[in-house]
Amino acid sequence: MSKQTTPTPGPSFEGTLTGGSHAASDKYLERRAWIGEYFDQTAADGWRQLTSDEKVSKVRATVREGRDRMRHTLLSFLPTDLRGWRVLDAGCGTGMLAVDLALRGAEVVAVDLSPTLVGYGRDRAAAAGVSDRVVFHDGDMLDPAYGAVDAVVAMDSLIHYDLPHIIEALTSLAARTRGPIVYTVAPWTPILGPLLTIGRLFPQRDRSPRIVPTAERRLRGAIAAAPSLAGWTSGRTQRIERGFYRSQAYELIRTDASVPTAGARA
Ligand SMILES: C[S@@+](CC[C@H](N)C(=O)[O-])C[C@H]1O[C@@H](n2cnc3c(N)ncnc32)[C@H](O)[C@@H]1O
Repeated sequence: MSKQTTPTPGPSFEGTLTGGSHAASDKYLERRAWIGEYFDQTAADGWRQLTSDEKVSKVRATVREGRDRMRHTLLSFLPTDLRGWRVLDAGCGTGMLAVDLALRGAEVVAVDLSPTLVGYGRDRAAAAGVSDRVVFHDGDMLDPAYGAVDAVVAMDSLIHYDLPHIIEALTSLAARTRGPIVYTVAPWTPILGPLLTIGRLFPQRDRSPRIVPTAERRLRGAIAAAPSLAGWTSGRTQRIERGFYRSQAYELIRTDASVPTAGARA
């Protein structure tokens, strides 16, 4: 697939979508601008290191381990053979999952707000010999300009959004996805939830966007109640906890029989 086949909306940290027009709220745009700036500037080198084989601190090693488990969990929610599938890696970071999907045969559209991380992703795909199957873009993962896909993966890219924004994001992704959306949300736990809530009351020195814990019951309830997600249902879930890494995998599945499933389409 050539890099020119899909319009390139480009980064939009100023809070406007340049290549599409999903009905984004002002609050979503504000949040997105903060997240994009943080990952592209403050956190870019840390992410490069965390997602490489370089030696990291013991704490970060547990995060790396947890993230490896999470990647395998999300992949286990999809078929092993992804030939014939077009998959969106929404918030691809340095492209680890995008490359795994391509190695399973998928054509991958990998999108991230951070041009720097996307650049690392391109290097990763080249090193793995799958550059021809992964098209990277810096832009908003919710931009409809990236076109229809058979499945979406969104690993830890929704953890900085609150529940209304998660529903907004899932709705936007669902509108152009034939098959499953597999994604993660930060779990609300009796310890983590209150800690992060208290943290929100204090000024943030490093400007990192807060992780927003969301209880499974609230998430499932909001999905079931959202008219915009009629025809979709929540499926499997699995929580991964390893050292300092905590995240929960979910799948959102189409129940609407009028839309062909990815398998049926291929
Ligand atoms: C915690 S990192 C995870 C990256 C990657 N999915 C992984 O697991 O290695 C979250 C990423 O989501 C991206 N992100 C968050 N909101 C986004 C949006 N609206 N559009 C595109 N990328 C987004 C951030 O820029 C960041 O790189």
